[in-house]
Formats: sequence, C-alpha cells, structure tokens
Amino acid sequence: MCVYYKRKDDSFGPSLSLHFQFSTILMKLPIILFGLVFIILFCTVTAQVQYQNTSSALYNTNVNLTTVYISDLQGRHRNVSYYTVGKLAIVDGDIVYGIEALLLSRRVTATILERHALHKRVHSIFHDSPKKWPGAKVVYYYQSLSVKRKVQAYVDEAKMRWKKKNPFLQFEERPVCDEPVAGQLMITSIDCAGCYANLGWSSSSELYMNLQQPSGLCGRGCYSNEATHEFGHALGLYHEHQRPDRDRHQIFHCPNLMDPKCCNPGTCCDFSCFFRIIPNLDHSGPYGMTSLMQYRANAFARPGLITLESIPFSEEVVPNTNPGFPDLLDNMRICEIYLKECKLSPP
Ligand SMILES: *[C@@H]1O[C@H](CO)[C@@H](O)[C@H](O)[C@H]1NC(C)=O
Ligand SMILES: *[C@@H]1O[C@H](CO)[C@@H](O)[C@H](O)[C@H]1NC(C)=O
Repeated sequence: MCVYYKRKDDSFGPSLSLHFQFSTILMKLPIILFGLVFIILFCTVTAQVQYQNTSSALYNTNVNLTTVYISDLQGRHRNVSYYTVGKLAIVDGDIVYGIEALLLSRRVTATILERHALHKRVHSIFHDSPKKWPGAKVVYYYQSLSVKRKVQAYVDEAKMRWKKKNPFLQFEERPVCDEPVAGQLMITSIDCAGCYANLGWSSSSELYMNLQQPSGLCGRGCYSNEATHEFGHALGLYHEHQRPDRDRHQIFHCPNLMDPKCCNPGTCCDFSCFFRIIPNLDHSGPYGMTSLMQYRANAFARPGLITLESIPFSEEVVPNTNPGFPDLLDNMRICEIYLKECKLSPP
C-alpha cells in the first residue's frame, strides 16, 4: 500500500494498443526508473514513520540523569537517579517525585546524618506517600487544545482499559487549562520528556502526566499501552519489578544496561536505580509477571540485549513488549486500594 495513482483517462481500457516500440520504452526508461526510486523511497520513509510510531518512549534513554544520595522510607541511605522536566524531578524512570528542589533538600550529607536518624520518615523517597483519589475519581485536564488533540485518543483508551474490569473507577475531565492545579492531574505532551506521571493523589501537590509524541528531535511516543501504565501510577501502583521479591521471579542483568554503572549489589546510580528494589514497598499478593507495572525484557538495555531475563524452566516469562492492560492482580490491587468504592460496585 504505497503509492496509488487514480487515472483520469483509462488508457489501459479496450483501446489499449499492444504495439510497443522498443525506442518508446527506451525513452521512457528514465521516467520508469525515477518512478521506481520514488516508490522505494516513499515506502522506506513510511516504514520508518510506522516503526517510530510503535516505538515506546517509556524507556527513554535520551535523558540527562543525576544521581543523589538520599534516604528511603526506613531511613536507609541510598542513591536515587532522576531527570528534570522544567522544575520537576522524574525518578525510577517515569514517576514524578515533585519539584527538584524538594528532592535535593532530602539529600543526605555527612553533617545531617546524625539529625537524620531522628527524622526518618521526613526524609522519605516520597515526601507524600501515595494517596488514593477521593471517591476513586481521577480528575484531569489537558494543558491545551493541541495537547488534547495529540493524546486524547490514548487517554480515552487507557481510561476504558482501566474501567473495563474496575467499573467503580471514575475519570472526570475538566476544561483545558494551562495552569497546574493542586489535586488535579494535568496532562501534558512535552517533546522529548518521556512518559511519566505522579504516584497516587495528593491534595496539596500539582499532579502531572506527560505523554510525549514523536517530534523532529525525538521519534518515540507514549501511546495507549504507556498511557495505561501511567494511569496505573496515577491510581497509586508502583513498579512490579521494584518489589522486594523481584529477584525470585527474574534475573536482572545490570551490565546490559545502556551505560551500565553501579552494578554491585546494594548500590545504584543512573539507569541501575530504575531497577532498585524498594524494601518497604507494599507488595501484597503474589508477584505479577503479566502486571501492567512490570518492565519488559529489554527495558533500558543496549540494543540486542535484555536487562530482565526469565528464570530458566520457570512458567513466568518476562514480557517482550510493553504490557498494555491491567491484569487480574493489578485489578485486585486497585480494588484493595479503593476498597470502599470497589465493594459498592465490585468487578
Ligand atoms: C545534565 O544535568 C546536570 C545537572 O542537572 C547539568 O549540570 C548538566 O549541564 C546537564 N548536561 C546536559 C548535557 O544537559
Ligand atoms: C551512589 O552513586 C555514586 C555515583 O553517583 C556511586 O559512586 C556510589 O557507589 C553509589 N552508592 C550507592 C550506595 O549506591
């Protein structure tokens, strides 16, 4: 399905002459060759665009990562790597921490180590532990009409995927607005910024979801699968591959990372922090290899390599493509988080 010409005059109709002259064919040869080259070029460009369209920006390696030493929920000191979009700091690949200044204020330095022990929870990785949306209703709006035009189809599809098995979830769209509003999710589509979202709800924080679309500078995009994953974060789900029991279900190959660094157990910086185990993560229920929140096998890997390998002879297989739908365990967890609403109208 490359190039179609609609003929105005049907010269190949009944009057088609079978009188081909060698010289006419020779004369037309350059035109025919030119046509062929044009068709080949057109097909290549089309194929390129299609490839880019299916290429996910969830594993955005085109970012400038900074690693800082801060403290986790249990007061343990650890590295966290992040990139910035405007004032926002994005950690663990695609989760909005909040403004960068806040993250930096949590940095652990030798001088505050002593004081630190007394304020364990104050210096948590997430200043605001994930909270649930009141009434299980996600309130969101687009930053502009052009953002809405670009990503609405993916947002609507993601909402549908979530509501299918969790009909108690509600998504309320508010009018387009260019200003951040505390307690509401602003959907943006900033070029080259990746796919990201806040974790859970907060009454006092401005909440964001970015769905980058292909542009001249960055060819990848965030489509329906990625939007569904980001809504998973927005609803309060963390990454499955950062659960404390991750290593019992797959093998993490740190040296296969794009620009591998800090691969010794218990350490991380830059990309390896995206795979750090979160010891205190609430991981009720069995591990979900088909979870929407599980990274795919080649996440952040160098081309041709994989970072997450299935355990040999295990029935659990690390997915090769981005999961696009909440699985049974994801739905059960969402039901657990929004228990009151889920009970009123169970799946
Ligand atoms: C990367 O980020 C650091 C810290 O934010 C900054 O100092 C540096 O200039 C950035 N480098 C590039 C290439 O953007
Ligand atoms: C933290 O990151 C630095 C590099 O930024 C690295 O040298 C150090 O080993 C890391 N430490 C831990 C505990 O991960």
